[in-house]
Amino acid sequence: MQANIVTIPGDGIGVEVVAEGVKVLKAVAEKYGHMFTFENYLIGGCAIDATGEPLPAVTLDACRQADAVLMGAVGGPKWSDPSAKVRPEQGLLAIRKELGLYANLRPVQIFPQLRDASPLRPERLEGVDLVVVRELTGGIYFGERKEATGEDLSAYDTMVYSAPEIERIARRAFELARLRRNKVTSVDKANVLACSRLWRKTVVKVAGDYPDVELDHMLVDAAAMHLMRRPSDFDIILTGNMFGDILTDEASQLAGSMGMLASASLGEGKAGLYEPIHGSAPDITGMGIANPLATILSVGLLLRYSLGLGEEANAVEKAVADTLEAGYRTKDIYTEGAKLVNTEEMGTVVVGKL
Ligand code: IPM
Ligand code: MG
Repeated sequence: MQANIVTIPGDGIGVEVVAEGVKVLKAVAEKYGHMFTFENYLIGGCAIDATGEPLPAVTLDACRQADAVLMGAVGGPKWSDPSAKVRPEQGLLAIRKELGLYANLRPVQIFPQLRDASPLRPERLEGVDLVVVRELTGGIYFGERKEATGEDLSAYDTMVYSAPEIERIARRAFELARLRRNKVTSVDKANVLACSRLWRKTVVKVAGDYPDVELDHMLVDAAAMHLMRRPSDFDIILTGNMFGDILTDEASQLAGSMGMLASASLGEGKAGLYEPIHGSAPDITGMGIANPLATILSVGLLLRYSLGLGEEANAVEKAVADTLEAGYRTKDIYTEGAKLVNTEEMGTVVVGKL
């Protein structure tokens, strides 16, 4: 098949990991006889430096035309002055919103080879296989806000959710549950937040159309705890924008590292945006030690969801598993006796396994 893939590496290690993702995509194209074309654009801090804007119109246009977008990460100390008018993260939020990518899927897959890289006891990780379905274009990230400016030392952010917004993400979660273990845990803060009470009510209503799927509700604080105590009980975690952000960083520790979790951001069509859940990691930028596997696994999701290439997606995931099985580790997942490799070497080994 032919596909037009836009890459937006962004800042920091985003550039390093996206390079490895592209390497894997090229290897897939060659092995399976596909024709992928790549176009590279700016987003985030590097875009601010070049154009003054975190999401230049040319980047957005290219992403709109693309069959799929592969992203790295945005942000860094250079652009994090609290009084700055534009921030790299605005570019990321804007692209999600503009492309209508309201459904963010973050699979938490445990490679048994990495059980020792997790801070949890290995027996706790037995049977862990969950997907966080995070609402991505609403909630407190997008509500009205006011910065504390001048004399007025007060600021606010607003969390807003409408029933249709909740309904469409809930449907995504229930549909996905049907392809898995038929269980949805909806996470909210309904004991305090009005948004969460609407969330719960709406999810219950949607659940009526999925009698074959078991639904339970959990408050977000309890969910944070149970993710550590009994992570294997979860199948689908359905939650709002900010709770999903927080819980997926936490959940990454089940997989051993932030460098292991991939994500797919989807809207109504087939096109989507794929990115590792980790950030731009300024502390290790340029050292060549970042773990590219989250990005490579995101490439797997891209092949599956946007290009409909399930076999190729499986092959990428298998290549990652084989790489880990052969003992290759970047620094973040290194344990004694393993073969320590850098970012580029890790990508090359995965390509070799493929
Ligand atoms: C993520 C990131 C982003 C988010 C930041 C960079 C705005 O943490 O994708 O998880 O909060 O959504
Ligand atoms: Mg995050």
